[in-house]
Amino acid sequence: MRRLTTLVALTLTATLSAGFTLAEPPDPSLASLSTERRLQLGAALSKPEWPVDPLLYDTLTTHFNTVVPESELKWMWVHPERDVYDFTLADAMVEWAEMNGFDIRGGPLIWHQSLPPWITEGDWTRSELIAVMRDHIHTVVGRYRGRISQWDVVNEAFEPNGTVYVGEHSVWGRVIGPEFIDLAFKFAHEADPDAELYLNDYGAEALNAKSDGIYHFAKGMVERGVPIDGFGMQMHTPLPFPDPHEVAKNMARFGALKLKVAYTEMDVRIEHPDTSLVPPSPYWLNWQAHAYRMLTDVCVAAPNCDTIIMWGVTDLHSWVPHQHPGYGWAHLWDKQYQPKPAFYAVRDSLLYTPTRGAG
Ligand code: G3I
Repeated sequence: MRRLTTLVALTLTATLSAGFTLAEPPDPSLASLSTERRLQLGAALSKPEWPVDPLLYDTLTTHFNTVVPESELKWMWVHPERDVYDFTLADAMVEWAEMNGFDIRGGPLIWHQSLPPWITEGDWTRSELIAVMRDHIHTVVGRYRGRISQWDVVNEAFEPNGTVYVGEHSVWGRVIGPEFIDLAFKFAHEADPDAELYLNDYGAEALNAKSDGIYHFAKGMVERGVPIDGFGMQMHTPLPFPDPHEVAKNMARFGALKLKVAYTEMDVRIEHPDTSLVPPSPYWLNWQAHAYRMLTDVCVAAPNCDTIIMWGVTDLHSWVPHQHPGYGWAHLWDKQYQPKPAFYAVRDSLLYTPTRGAG
């Protein structure tokens, strides 16, 4: 009888606990979720922190499947003098990334910033500068042929009104004219026919004069047979953030041209001094998380968006306070490498957004 009572008690306990215990919440890494969805989830690597910080190493290798050298492939670093290429840092990053199983995105190949003085101060004829550009792109893309799978070929070439910038601060636009864009893509394609080639810009995520101009230019490229694969929305985002419905519409019109769209430099900055010992209030952190969630959902749900690159990993190492004084706290992990609400927002987007292209 006592055995029977014990059995009943045990069964009851088991049933009750089965009935009342909540299932363990899933705890997959961002990388595993992204890989399942065939999404490139990347992070920018910058020289000062990389690869010496072990916490950064763990976070990167656990949560990302793609990396981008933040500056080390820029002209100033790899081609400091006319006859000098220096791939020391770029090679080290690429080899490290390969060793750790990451895919690699590179660039920008042509940008009017981060150029060495021999380019910006040169007294160029149009054909000379085209030859220099051709040599540079062939050398850099050629060196990593088959190893760097996506390139931002031309970066920040458009004015807010949507026309190509040909003013004095762009040696490319000023000397060559808007055709420098087509030429850069042609040279990159010659150097690696299998790499995906992107036009990249900021402030053109939603629908506005700039994104209209870029869309029409990209349409022209397609019609001219220029080898372009996609448009990179940088997605450096303040709060309030770009309207996700507009971002989706913008993405869809590139899709109709059979072009991809990527978020190439995502972060969501908060107006709160980076030097403050007190983090931003939950109001800001939750709003930031909402921005990450809504914007990530748009990419994950779109049939032509398969790449999201975060422009930094933790608030400890960030470009934001340098270029936007008074702002910071823009990334998924805080200064102690603790995941922020923004991290969970991206994770939930990867977990719960309906499959890409469905519905
Ligand atoms: O590495 C040198 C160091 O040796 C030197 O002592 C120090 C002195 O200033 O400079 C260090 O280089 C800095 C470099 O970042 C490395 O971290 C440069 O000064 C600094 O200008 C450079 O800033 C980068 C900026 O692009 C210009 O290239 C930022 O980190 C990088 O986040 C930013 O990224 C851009 C994208 O390429 C294009 N879209 C906008 C985005 C943010 O501005």
